[in-house]
Amino acid sequence: MAEPLTTTDFPGLGKPRRGKVRDIYELPEGLLIVATDRLSAFDVVFREGIPGKGAVLTALSAWWFRRLSDIVDNHLISVDVERMVASAHPFAAALRGRSMLVRKARVLPVECIARGYLAGSGHKEYERSGSVCGVALPPGLVLSSKLPEPIYTPSTKAETGHDENISFEASVGLLGRPTAERLRELTLALYRAGAETLAERGIILCDTKFEFGVLEDGRIILVDEALTPDSSRFWDRTTWREGVAQDSFDKQIVRDYLSGLSWDRSPPPPALPPEVIAKTAARYREIAERITGLRMEGVER
Ligand SMILES: Nc1ncnc2c1ncn2[C@@H]1O[C@H](COP(=O)(O)OP(=O)(O)OP(=O)(O)O)[C@@H](O)[C@H]1O
Ligand SMILES: [Mg+2]
Repeated sequence: MAEPLTTTDFPGLGKPRRGKVRDIYELPEGLLIVATDRLSAFDVVFREGIPGKGAVLTALSAWWFRRLSDIVDNHLISVDVERMVASAHPFAAALRGRSMLVRKARVLPVECIARGYLAGSGHKEYERSGSVCGVALPPGLVLSSKLPEPIYTPSTKAETGHDENISFEASVGLLGRPTAERLRELTLALYRAGAETLAERGIILCDTKFEFGVLEDGRIILVDEALTPDSSRFWDRTTWREGVAQDSFDKQIVRDYLSGLSWDRSPPPPALPPEVIAKTAARYREIAERITGLRMEGVER
């Protein structure tokens, strides 16, 4: 199997800012976002990388950005290293397939989540209160139920620790009413478009997260990633059943492995065995190929 790339350092491009998955280089022409092969689960980053994961995330986001651009403009300038800035050319071999040159934006401090089904923190909140982020839901829903309508459930972008669900009114407090309303409208429109495309491929879009940013001229654009397995819960239509937890397409193998250990979900993470890594890599590749219909080039088969 190809060696995974878990951390980058390109002398001449400056020091990157490192997110959980991406290394971000600030260049005069824009931000160079490099998706590494790092894997995070339960907000903990594992030591081992998943070969091909960064390429899969990049290809999928680029594919969706193109398809969704009639709903909202996005940050993507280019995924073509040859057409990117000259300062990146010496590192073309490492960058190819896993990097995007994007317009730098002021990222808005709310994670914009749309949910069409009940899972995760949304399900927990519903069990407690009958609502999610202040949106009242009908009684009688169970884990994995389809909601009558997709709902917008914003959360804070926690600097440390886990994100926290907030009400729409709390997002108004953070963003101002016009921006909060715009993000809700865009998030739901993007969810509907994504869910429709995925349904044609036998995939249920349970929920997904978007981030938006503001350009210098004040325009709001879609930033970060779009409808990837890292930002979404994808379920298989044929095995979906109400009342039970659904297998997620991507990290299920890792989750199943971890649930057999007595790990408390705080760092340091346990080591991942090679077969778990190989199966997860295959899953990421399969989901991207199923969605885009494209063969993932440069990703080990
Ligand atoms: N166009 C953009 N302009 C500025 N920042 C961006 C843009 N697109 C994405 N980002 C930021 O780049 C980072 C992407 O890295 P990554 O996905 O690894 O981070 P994360 O672990 O999800 O989040 P963080 O490190 O911020 O907690 C995110 O912080 C995201 O908000
Ligand atoms: Mg991220």
